[in-house]
Amino acid sequence: MLRIDTSAVPAKKLEALLPQTLEAHKKLQSKSGAGAAFTDWVTLPDDFDRDEYKRLREAAERAAGLGEVMVVVGIGGSYLGSRAVIEYLLSPFYNGTAGKKTPDILFAGCNLSGDALQRLTDRIGGRDFTVNVISKSGGTTEPAVAFRYFRALCEKRYGKDGAKKRIFAATDKSRGILKTLSDAEGYEAFVIPDGVGGRYSVLTPVGLLPIAAAGVDTDALLDGARVMMEACRSAGGLDNPALAYAAARSALYRDGKKIEVLASFDPDFVYMGEWWKQLYGESEGKDGKGLFPAAVSYTADLHSMGQYMQEGERILFETFVRADTPKGGIRVETDPANTDGLNFLAGKTVDEINDAAYEGTKKAHTDGGVPCLTVDTGPKGAASLGELIYFFEYACGVSGYLLGVNPFDQPGVEAYKKNMFELLGKPGV
Ligand code: PA5
Repeated sequence: MLRIDTSAVPAKKLEALLPQTLEAHKKLQSKSGAGAAFTDWVTLPDDFDRDEYKRLREAAERAAGLGEVMVVVGIGGSYLGSRAVIEYLLSPFYNGTAGKKTPDILFAGCNLSGDALQRLTDRIGGRDFTVNVISKSGGTTEPAVAFRYFRALCEKRYGKDGAKKRIFAATDKSRGILKTLSDAEGYEAFVIPDGVGGRYSVLTPVGLLPIAAAGVDTDALLDGARVMMEACRSAGGLDNPALAYAAARSALYRDGKKIEVLASFDPDFVYMGEWWKQLYGESEGKDGKGLFPAAVSYTADLHSMGQYMQEGERILFETFVRADTPKGGIRVETDPANTDGLNFLAGKTVDEINDAAYEGTKKAHTDGGVPCLTVDTGPKGAASLGELIYFFEYACGVSGYLLGVNPFDQPGVEAYKKNMFELLGKPGV
C-alpha cells in the first residue's frame, strides 16, 4: 500500500490545516463542492459499466489482431494518462520491443506539427494500423485535424468498410461532432462518462483502450485504484495519504513555496510526470493562484536542473516518487586495471547505485533548504500504479478545494483557441 512521508512539514502546520482538509474531503465524498458535476471519478473504480468494459477489452484484443500499430488520437487528458501508464509499466521503449505480440501505440493529435504528423505516418509505413480517436468534447482542434487525416488514410488503404472496423472512438455518450461522426460512420464507440473531466479520465475508456491494447493488466490497474479509493473514503485524518499530501502541499504554498517539483529516479516515469503536471496545473492554476507543477527525471536532470534545485531561489519543494523494484539487474564488473577508477562500485548493481543517488540527492536538497516529501508506491506494477493514480487525483481535488478554486474546470484553456480561430477565420468566431 502506498505511503507518504510529510515529515519535512512541521506536524503542527499540518494539524492546523486539518479542519479545512477534512472539509475539502467531505465535499469530495458528498459531491457537494465546486465543480461537483465532474467528480464521478471519485467512485469510478467501483462504479463503471462492466458490460462496456468487457466490450472494450474485446475491442483491444481485436485491434491487436488487426494491425501492428494503433494510432491514438487525442490531446491533454485524452492521451497523457495512457501514454504515462504504457511507458511506466512497459517502458518508453515499448514500441521498439522485438517480438512483442501487442501493437505499437503511436500518439497523434497532441500537437499541430505537420512534420510530426508526417514522421508518424512514415513510422507506420506499410504496416497495418488501427485508429483510436479520443475526445470528450468531440471538437478539439488538434485531434480533429489529425483524425481527419488518419480517417482518410485508413479509408484509402482499407476502403470505407474496412476503415469502419479499424476505427474506435471514445467520446461523449450523446453530444459532439465525434459522436455524430461515429454514429454516421458506424465506428465502435466507447462512452466517456459525463461526470469525469479529461485529466481525471485515465481509468475510463479514454485510457483503458490503448492501455489494454498494449497488454497492460487493466483489471489490476482498476483493483489498485479501488484499494486507494477505499483508503481515501474511510480514513478521515492525516493517516489518509491523499489528505496528508494535500495538507502538506497547502502548508508549503502558504509558507511561500510557489513550485512543486515531482522527482523520480525511474526513467520510465517521465510521462507520469507529464500526466501529473496536467492534473495539478489545470486543476489549481486559476484565479491568480496555485503551485506551478514541474517534473524532473533523475539522475539525468541532476545534470541540468540539479544546480537550481540545490542553490536557486528557495520557492520550491520537491515530491519524490519511489517504487520498489527488483535490484538484481546489471552489475558493475571488476576491472583488474581499474583505469576508470570504478572498482569501488564493483559488485554493485546499477539500481543500487541509483538508490544511493536518491538518498544523497534528498539529503543534499533538504540541506539546501528544499522541503522534500516522499511518496512510496510499494512494488512497481499495475496495481500500485492504480493506487498512485487515484491518490494523485484525490489529493488534487482536496488541494483545489483547500486553495479555494474549482479543481474541475479549465476556463483559461479557451483563450488561445479564440485567438487561433480568429486568425484562421473560423466562421462565427
Ligand atoms: O482535462 C481536460 O479537460 C483537458 O485537458 C482535455 O482533456 C483536453 O483539452 C482534450 O479535450 P477533449 O477530450 O474534449 O478533446
